[in-house]
Amino acid sequence: MTHFLDINKTDPADLRAMIDQAAAMKSARAGRPKGAPDDDQPLAGRMVALIFEKPSTRTRVSFDMGVRQMGGQTMVLTGSEMQLGHGETIADTARVLSRYVDLIMLRTYEEDVLLEMADHASVPVVNGLTNRTHPCQIMADILTYEEHRGPIAGRKVTWCGDGNNVFASFAHAAGQFGFDLTFCGPETLDPERVFLEEARAKGASVEIIRDPVRAVQGADLVVTDTWISMHDSQSTRERRHNQLRPYQVNEALMKHAKPDALFMHCLPAHRNEEVTDAVMDGPQSVVFDEAENRLHAQKAILRWCLGV
Ligand code: CP
Ligand code: NVA
Repeated sequence: MTHFLDINKTDPADLRAMIDQAAAMKSARAGRPKGAPDDDQPLAGRMVALIFEKPSTRTRVSFDMGVRQMGGQTMVLTGSEMQLGHGETIADTARVLSRYVDLIMLRTYEEDVLLEMADHASVPVVNGLTNRTHPCQIMADILTYEEHRGPIAGRKVTWCGDGNNVFASFAHAAGQFGFDLTFCGPETLDPERVFLEEARAKGASVEIIRDPVRAVQGADLVVTDTWISMHDSQSTRERRHNQLRPYQVNEALMKHAKPDALFMHCLPAHRNEEVTDAVMDGPQSVVFDEAENRLHAQKAILRWCLGV
């Protein structure tokens, strides 16, 4: 079964092929209405279940549109509406859904839920974000970087802020795509060491630098994300804000990166918290290209999973 669970679990040649196919599919439908079908309909006759146990705008709409453009159909489900949220096991849910649908996309809390779904499903399972990783986002980010600046291999990416699920998938990607990665944030919010060690073992240069100015020096790409993720308790809000304020991405900080550095944020953004309006809306920002590219990258991921 070809699941897309994480970037580190997917062969680098397959990842490269997905990015290239996403770029080709995007250019093939340039200028067409969003709802127009693609010329080929690789998902004709396929049904995709999109399950959300957390809120979503981009993941939900981009998967839904992508499946439709490729000729497939979707059903969007929330965990609380399903028996999943009322005691039915994940394994049984996986077995049942596999009798109805051709692919399951799941956004959930604990990674173990995703892994159990994948273990017991007889159809491909795609990770639509867990507390631990967000691989579809980073595939879109690679596509976006390369569209603007060419190959990401050998480039330097600096992450400012919380060492969260989106950072973790950047670390996976650093190992698989061969770029350098710097984490810059408070020690208390460091990423799990395993993400850094694994990227290093694959040959990426991965550093932790606490000083934001030093961390962004030489960066080709500066990235941040919300200071409070969906799985973080709101009771930590004040403490997190105090810890993370020094790592805000603003115009003064961007001046220390390379002059042609790009700025990315997976969105939703909390303007003037982790990033200022001036950077979000400035010439280095490609945040809305990233959002658009969720669609194109995921179409390639779905095709890879389904072998079509
Ligand atoms: N970036 C991202 O995954 O956004 P959503 O939470 O809106 O899906
Ligand atoms: N780190 C964020 C990403 C949202 C797309 C979260 O998990 O809430």
